[in-house]
Amino acid sequence: MTAKPTLLRDLPADLDVKRLPRHVAVIMDGNGRWAKQQGLPRIMGHRHGVDTLKELLRCCKDWGIEALTAYAFSTENWGRPLAEVEFLMTLFERVLRRELKELISEGVQIHFVGDLGSLPESLQEEIERAMSATRHNQTIRFTVATNYGGRREILQACRAIAEQVEKGQLQVVDIDEALFERHLYTAGTCDPDLLIRTSGEMRVSNFLLWQVAYSEIYVTETLWPNFDRQEFHRALSDYQQRHRRFGLV
Ligand code: IPE
Ligand code: IPE
Ligand code: MG
Repeated sequence: MTAKPTLLRDLPADLDVKRLPRHVAVIMDGNGRWAKQQGLPRIMGHRHGVDTLKELLRCCKDWGIEALTAYAFSTENWGRPLAEVEFLMTLFERVLRRELKELISEGVQIHFVGDLGSLPESLQEEIERAMSATRHNQTIRFTVATNYGGRREILQACRAIAEQVEKGQLQVVDIDEALFERHLYTAGTCDPDLLIRTSGEMRVSNFLLWQVAYSEIYVTETLWPNFDRQEFHRALSDYQQRHRRFGLV
């Protein structure tokens, strides 16, 4: 982990600063349902979802959380109507272009994880630009999972490791958890302490399958565009009530 906690701003008094999660991961779900509730097209939910993510990132930064990982687009989401997929790809690109200056000035180190080579080329270029412009930033590590699938991530790690074995560069007995993790997209980031899913769905939908082995899971009925600072505060309070045992007694 490269990110370091910064000065805390406005941390709610009931939260214990020493027991905050180091890494929060979030499955941002419910944009479509939110839009429907408002009588708007689904894409408007995605547009509002961006503002929610921006606010959550700021909140994590203010409260000294070292890493935030957000699920923006899954390998399965390509199966949605073409117009929605195209809207999302354009949205990611536009938001990145628009927000880069602020990400830099706020000290955010942005990463993208997933099968990035299959994204539109213009988006890949924006991603490359943003990752390289922020790579020395230290305030918070912000990872966006785009065209991400946990199974695909594990498979590509297996392939890379098998190739090294095939070439005689690695012995099978030397394959352990630490080596495996170095081949995941998330190499260098600690596992999420807290996994939040909005909109009430009780599933992980192919997100960070390896990394959430011991994450605390928090599900809220709140739809993603409505997930504000207060909701995040509630999630953190809940997290701080948990007793993490990691298989011990
Ligand atoms: C999450 O919201 C955003 C993405 C998956 C891109 P949804 O679009 O899944 O919203 P619902 O689940 O249909 O309400
Ligand atoms: C998970 O949400 C993917 C993202 C948030 C990007 P989905 O809406 O795609 O998940 P399911 O279909 O409800 O499992
Ligand atoms: Mg959904």
